[in-house]
Amino acid sequence: MSLPTSFTPDLLRALAQQHGTPLWVYDAHTIRQRIADLQVFDTVRFAQKANSNTHILRLMRAQGVVVDAVSRGEIERALAAGYTADQTPGATSGIVFTADLFDAATLDTVVRHGVPVNAGSIDMLEQLGQRSPGHTVWLRINPGFGHGHSNKTNTGGEHSKHGIWHADLGAALAAIQRHGLRLVGLHMHIGSGVDYGHLQQVCAAMVALVKRAGVPVEAISAGGGLSIPYREGDDRIDTAHYFSLWDAARREIASHLGRPVHLELEPGRYLVAESGALLTEVRATKAMGQNAFALVDAGFSDLMRPSMYGAFHGISVIPMSEGERPLQPTVVAGPLCESGDVFTQGEGGVVLTRELPQARVGDLLVLHDAGAYGASMSSNYNSRPLIAEVLVDGEGHRLIRRRQTVAELLALEDC
Ligand code: LLP
Repeated sequence: MSLPTSFTPDLLRALAQQHGTPLWVYDAHTIRQRIADLQVFDTVRFAQKANSNTHILRLMRAQGVVVDAVSRGEIERALAAGYTADQTPGATSGIVFTADLFDAATLDTVVRHGVPVNAGSIDMLEQLGQRSPGHTVWLRINPGFGHGHSNKTNTGGEHSKHGIWHADLGAALAAIQRHGLRLVGLHMHIGSGVDYGHLQQVCAAMVALVKRAGVPVEAISAGGGLSIPYREGDDRIDTAHYFSLWDAARREIASHLGRPVHLELEPGRYLVAESGALLTEVRATKAMGQNAFALVDAGFSDLMRPSMYGAFHGISVIPMSEGERPLQPTVVAGPLCESGDVFTQGEGGVVLTRELPQARVGDLLVLHDAGAYGASMSSNYNSRPLIAEVLVDGEGHRLIRRRQTVAELLALEDC
């Protein structure tokens, strides 16, 4: 909900001036703090789909955080950031590829680099086993239930496409054996936006599954899904409590197997969401009946979460001029030629207002907690180039992705 303390109005104004708006701004110190919160886990694996900028990945690697990749592009990003395909659980440089299917090019890349695979389907095991016998694998299991901050982020249960159905564990193990694959561990990720009730259910499911599998796994992965306080009054997750539940599950499994078991966590949002803000400029204001509109130069092509999930992002205003600015209920909307291009909306696309100081052209608006699933979900809709990213680290700041140009978009069609 609150911005990183380094994001003073003066700094944000200077960055907007230097790099133009809209602009992503991240704070390295906040990311390091969030990593430190989770140090108690044996391994923290960053789900880079939340933010896959290679400079952020290098920052993660410098802190001993390993990485998850869900596409060929994400594998290439991890390699570019200095990660390797080390297959040992607990390796500090390792990549794991998590998916429910292989496209042909990705299977080639995985085999060529020897990247361990967290398989979400038996077909993946078959295709990998034929190409690369002995390859290291994890099994991503769908335990039969899920939970998410919206239906679109629930990744378990019988309406979800993710993971190997729990009752098919035996068939998955048979495929592993048939192809001589090396099983490292079991993985569960039931969705984003965890509550402790569901967590207990997942831990119990993991224990039951390992006992049923009858195979000596070396590791278990708790997946990701740790929430962050987007709204004022939201609780911050108690990471010690979170760890204690998984640690108890791990101990029970270890005592059942008679060997130590490695415990991984795979957060995306928790590590980066609060570090990031989207900086945008008010370019027009209008009133529609009772509603005041502030029209800004960022759209859902930049930050998609409000349009996609009705997600809430705190908004603060950096006024361009002094003077009285009475609070007024305001709709904040973008430049796209589409009615759903509104940052203040609820689930189902209901347009909402936010109490904001009366907006004027030239004001900067700051959308909070946008470091996760912001830049990484951006698109070129309406032929808008991807926007730049800046990383603030202590007193310094630097560009970590330049703005795309329209010429670059057109060049793709130069054929
Ligand atoms: N592991 C797996 C296998 C996942 O599928 C995901 C997220 C994560 C870890 C990380 O989840 P996190 O810790 O970030 O909640 N675009 C949505 C979130 C989609 C998440 C998809 N999978 C959003 O903006 O909320």
